Amino acid sequence: MTPMTEVRVAHTADLDTAALAAARALLDEAFEGEFTDHDWEHALGGMHALLWEGADLIGHASVVQRRLLHAGRALRSGYVEAVAVRETHRRRGHGATLLTALERLIRGGYDLGALASSDEALPFYAERGWRLWQGPTFALTPLGIARTEEDDGGVYVLPVAARLDLSGELVCDWRDGDVW
Ligand SMILES: CC(C)(COP(=O)(O)OP(=O)(O)OC[C@H]1O[C@@H](n2cnc3c(N)ncnc32)[C@H](O)[C@@H]1OP(=O)(O)O)[C@@H](O)C(=O)NCCC(=O)NCCS
Repeated sequence: MTPMTEVRVAHTADLDTAALAAARALLDEAFEGEFTDHDWEHALGGMHALLWEGADLIGHASVVQRRLLHAGRALRSGYVEAVAVRETHRRRGHGATLLTALERLIRGGYDLGALASSDEALPFYAERGWRLWQGPTFALTPLGIARTEEDDGGVYVLPVAARLDLSGELVCDWRDGDVW
């Protein structure tokens, strides 16, 4: 019999070392070795959704706060990171379960949701009502605002409270590693 699946939502501070290690291992496997230490660091310091099948972790996603500049405002954004479902368990609605948990936090706590999608996951987010950003993207770097052309066409937003012009400019705050 397959053990029950259960989604648990917790802040990084409330996850023990074993749960964090299981999440990192799942992400390394799901992204086939392309998941970097920076990617992991970007997923910390906010809320995690973990999907357990008995004692096995089969899915992970987190949301952290970032500032996105748009139309003259610094919007409080719930930025989604490190979304993955174990390969053997995909297309069974587990990714949707994880996102549903995080979208509740985004709708209740932020001006908008945002994320940078992998090519593979573009239909997954579109299906859930996330909107592809149409305008140019930028990052607020230590040397000033810089264009991030390579990220155009891969940034999704989940509109909540803020008025968004999807064809306008969107600027993310600075961090090490991939800025979006
Ligand atoms: C993206 C990912 C998390 C989706 O997880 P999942 O558990 O398979 O997703 P779900 O079963 O909840 O999918 C819900 C719906 O999203 C869409 N969808 C999901 N994966 C899809 C894919 N590869 N191609 C097309 N549509 C897809 C479908 O509409 C699907 O419904 P359906 O199966 O009834 O057709 C998973 O494929 C994954 O871990 N990929 C590798 C890591 C990655 O790219 N993560 C995203 C980083 S931004």
